[in-house]
Amino acid sequence: MSKQVDIRTIGFIGAGNMPRSIIGGMVRGGYPANKIWASNRSRPKLDQLAQDFSVQVTQNNHELVAACDVIVMSVKPQLMKEVCADLKQHTSTISSKLVTTIAAGVPIANYHQYLGEQTRVIRIMPNTPSLVGEGVSGLCADSSVTEADRNYITQVFNYVGLTIWLEEESSIDVLGAVAGSGPAYFFEFMNGLQQAAEALGFDAKTARAMVQQTALGAAKMASESELSLVDLRKQVTSKGGSTAKGIEVYQERDLDGISDQVVRAAVARNQEMAKLF
Ligand SMILES: NC(=O)c1ccc[n+]([C@@H]2O[C@H](COP(=O)([O-])OP(=O)(O)OC[C@H]3O[C@@H](n4cnc5c(N)ncnc54)[C@H](OP(=O)(O)O)[C@@H]3O)[C@@H](O)[C@H]2O)c1
Repeated sequence: MSKQVDIRTIGFIGAGNMPRSIIGGMVRGGYPANKIWASNRSRPKLDQLAQDFSVQVTQNNHELVAACDVIVMSVKPQLMKEVCADLKQHTSTISSKLVTTIAAGVPIANYHQYLGEQTRVIRIMPNTPSLVGEGVSGLCADSSVTEADRNYITQVFNYVGLTIWLEEESSIDVLGAVAGSGPAYFFEFMNGLQQAAEALGFDAKTARAMVQQTALGAAKMASESELSLVDLRKQVTSKGGSTAKGIEVYQERDLDGISDQVVRAAVARNQEMAKLF
């Protein structure tokens, strides 16, 4: 771990899969386990976290808040109001902490309302590949969050992938529609290729292996190249060749137009859901 690392005591309220992955990434990355806390309603996930990563665990959210400088609210969105109200009532220090949240769809303004206007709030939208250390997290801060806070949280979420800071909170809906929902789009697309291979005689296992390794290889090439995605595509598309014939079908069906519609539909749904909180 490099010398510049900012070590604060951080606690996750709600110990589901996403906090578990972030904690795992932090510990593997060298973050001291005794500076990481997790609380959960029931006991089993906490016991597992303590056993796997030697972090501090408690079923008492107030104990966690008292011990931590940074809180990561990780309960389901529909429980957020109730959990915050309980913290505000019993833990007078909560409004002086850096409060971050990974709950989908709950705006920053709601946390100010639940915890006090002066609370420094960062809203984060991680995606599921964070579970395997290859995530994308969109982050958005209120105006009272300091540069040091931003750097600290960037460091934490970099343990599970790429971090992207957003100036406007509304951009979280777009990031969610692209990166949050994106894995499902890729799975859908990959499944189509797998089915095509099966229709032409491949067994399911081989077809899947071929498709997923190709996806991985293409993503790796894209991430290691300076070329645009269009130029990368051109590099594997010889004029008059078989790839060109395949791409022609996508272009005739307007795959770009379909992707545009897909993202817009998901953004609209994110905006609708945000109104529920
Ligand atoms: N999973 C993802 O890929 C993903 C991506 C982006 C954002 N998120 C966000 O992450 C949050 C958690 O999602 P999840 O999928 O991890 O949900 P989850 O598996 O249901 O985890 C939520 C956890 O919160 C615990 N909990 C409930 N009430 C509590 C309380 N009062 N105090 C402490 N802990 C409490 C639950 O405990 P029990 O075990 O006792 O029920 C459960 O372990 C959500 O807000 C979601 O929007 C998740």
